[in-house]
Amino acid sequence: MITTATISRRSIGVILSVAALLTGCVQSVSPATTPTPELAGGKNALFIPPILRDDDPSPMSSSLTLIARESNKEFLHGKTTRTYGYNGDYLGPTIRVKTGEHVSVMVVNDLTEETTVHWHGLLVDGEMDGGPHNVILAGSEWNPSFVIEQPAATLWYHAHPLHRTGGQVYRGLAGLFIIDDEESEGLNLPDDYGVNDIPLVVQDRRFADDGTLIYKTSMDDVMQGMLGDTILVNGTVDAFLEVATVKTRFRILNGANARTFEFELSDGAEFVQIASDGGLLEAPIPMRSLRLSPGERAEVIVDFSRYSKGDSISLLSTDFNIIDFIVAREEDDGTSIPERLAVVPEIAESVAVRTRVFDLMGTGLMVNINGKQMDMTRIDELVEHGDTEIWVIRNVTMGMGPMMGMGGDISHPFHFHGVQFQVLSRDGLRPPLNERGWKDTVLVNPNETVRVIVRFAHKGIYMYHCHILEHEDAGMMGQFEVR
Ligand code: C2O
Ligand code: CU
Ligand code: CU
Repeated sequence: MITTATISRRSIGVILSVAALLTGCVQSVSPATTPTPELAGGKNALFIPPILRDDDPSPMSSSLTLIARESNKEFLHGKTTRTYGYNGDYLGPTIRVKTGEHVSVMVVNDLTEETTVHWHGLLVDGEMDGGPHNVILAGSEWNPSFVIEQPAATLWYHAHPLHRTGGQVYRGLAGLFIIDDEESEGLNLPDDYGVNDIPLVVQDRRFADDGTLIYKTSMDDVMQGMLGDTILVNGTVDAFLEVATVKTRFRILNGANARTFEFELSDGAEFVQIASDGGLLEAPIPMRSLRLSPGERAEVIVDFSRYSKGDSISLLSTDFNIIDFIVAREEDDGTSIPERLAVVPEIAESVAVRTRVFDLMGTGLMVNINGKQMDMTRIDELVEHGDTEIWVIRNVTMGMGPMMGMGGDISHPFHFHGVQFQVLSRDGLRPPLNERGWKDTVLVNPNETVRVIVRFAHKGIYMYHCHILEHEDAGMMGQFEVR
């Protein structure tokens, strides 16, 4: 595989001050081309998406505006790429709200095509969920409002129009959605956004020589999903971040269309996972590698106090260098990681009133769930409001195997809307420790059976689907209605 992000640990100490100057001016939200600050070494300062401004002065309510529009961005030096973004040129601002808060969002569609905005992982009624039913026509608006009824978590939002989600997210329609609550704020965890609490939206993209984003040009792009050869972190190519010798929290979103990442540090050092998709884990989990499939999030803490000023550590994933961390400052650390992070009340299996099976099958344009492809006019599953159910997700490969380079055996990240679930088992075994918190997306490997338990506390029509967006767009999606 050819990677433009080659693994390098070169020291760029002397030009750190230049980098510091450049990082100060990247928060512009101008619709014009935003040049990426670049170092002589070819590395670019990580862009930190700004926190979306709240126009409501009351502390318990938020009034937010997201404008989806077409724009230009200079990802690659001297080359202009046509993009989509919310309020800016690529991706969107970070939404940050509190549990209990009333949130109203004005979503304006300034694109020339229809879109939707889905709040991935948020517990809201179907009408507010932003799935393919909540179409926002070109030139029009959508104004959902909801109350935040779930604990602190790193969620995200992204476009979700029928059959066109992959292309729109690929061009930039996604952003982070962070929830804080009193417990999380009382924990003394690193939480200074952009300083020791860093969002990392990790994506892979493919660029043509002229800078154009290449999307779905081959059969493989449909079979495997759209895999890129260039890593973007918050839209930054070849990113570096200056850190201090303190514990630093990273909110990692796998925002790729199809690629599963296996994150590790370049020196093999340990880091600690503190949160999964839907919130804090009960206890911090020490790990050396972290798998995240498309749509999944994790919050991890890296303790940079074991390094010295001038050191450079990289976050890697298999063939890719994701981002370099340059230890630029020595500082005292006032934060701590408590042994107990949160209470995740276990949902007992005995509470479940029903079990449903979802068979993920087929390849390419034939991908399906239980033999069916997405049909907007068909509700596939009816769920009783307030019920707890067990959903059994099976990745049925039919022995297709990786025949003739067709890539028959593929892992599917299964996601469903409007809930946070708990993983009961993987092939009958307890899931790994970092999957024992709240989840909304779970990777199901070839021939694997994953059982999850979930309570349906909101009403409406929702989607369940594979979060490889090309599979979703091909029809590997169904609808359930809670009523
Ligand atoms: Cu990330 Cu249907 O969603
Ligand atoms: Cu979702
Ligand atoms: Cu899939």
